[in-house]
Amino acid sequence: MSASSESFQAILDSLYHKYKGLTDGKVASYIPELAKMNPNWFSICVVTADGRTFVTGDAEQLFTIQSISKVFVYGLALEEHGREAVLAKVGVEPTGDPFNSIIRLDEYSKRPDNPMINAGAIATTSLIKGKGATERLNRMLDMFRCYVGHDVYIDMSVFVSERSSGHRNRAMASLMRHFGMIDDRMDESLDLYFQQCSMMVNCRDLATMAATLANRGINPLTGERAVPSRYIRDILSVMYTCGMYNFAGQWAYTVGIPAKSGVSGGIIAIVPRQVGIAVFSPLLDAHGSSVRGIKVCEELSRQFELHMFDPPMGCLHLLEQLDDAT
Ligand code: DON
Repeated sequence: MSASSESFQAILDSLYHKYKGLTDGKVASYIPELAKMNPNWFSICVVTADGRTFVTGDAEQLFTIQSISKVFVYGLALEEHGREAVLAKVGVEPTGDPFNSIIRLDEYSKRPDNPMINAGAIATTSLIKGKGATERLNRMLDMFRCYVGHDVYIDMSVFVSERSSGHRNRAMASLMRHFGMIDDRMDESLDLYFQQCSMMVNCRDLATMAATLANRGINPLTGERAVPSRYIRDILSVMYTCGMYNFAGQWAYTVGIPAKSGVSGGIIAIVPRQVGIAVFSPLLDAHGSSVRGIKVCEELSRQFELHMFDPPMGCLHLLEQLDDAT
């Protein structure tokens, strides 16, 4: 389907109205502060790789980014250490398990499976460089600032709530510390992980972050580079295979683009070189993903043929080159 800017905005508005009445799912409550979110909050935002923004619903409503942060911290680890060093600490294998599954460290390498599950994300966060907690936090916040285009802040109540209820994450970090997969800054790195999850964003910010990935690492609204383009491939591959946890296979089958969900109800999805999509609605399904978010992404993918294997995409370029060569 083709769409003018006006009709695309109308489609987003109609998706908003269509799914506003869908009240299936539950707000996350395993972190007490998250349970305070309003289940009615709902917004959809699309930012294009050339910097246009389409938005509907509660676009300015702030919430904590949660697991969506894992994508960007993975990018920072790649930038700071390079592909091989990061791969030595965190794998790229989907697990088919929930986000908080107790880790199965690889028998030989002792690595967590991938950077999207909590264990892998904690290992990734532990790689952030810097002298001491403040320098490492500032480095991380600065990275997020490049993606959203303005300063970002931590929600202190959520951070404290995460930290005081995060026994499972602490246990996984201890096990990884035992195997030498994270260094002796374990408590500092765990705090950093809880802080990254507690960073405040709105739906517009999430879509801008997604559009930055779609735009090969350059924020399309500010022109600032957030991550080297050579790592976009790594980030999007891991999002595609692992970003939706134990729903990743179904998501790849029905929506077919790299994505990441978080327990506060955000979902980002990336159509490389085209758009970043974000949906925010705190009502979650049994996999911990936004019910309305999945519906909206499924519809957008179907209506605009966004599935990676719908259009022939990259393959054609190769065929064209082969034709030229003969
Ligand atoms: O580690 C945790 O429990 C959270 N702060 C992050 C969880 C999250 O968003 C998982 N994703 N769906």
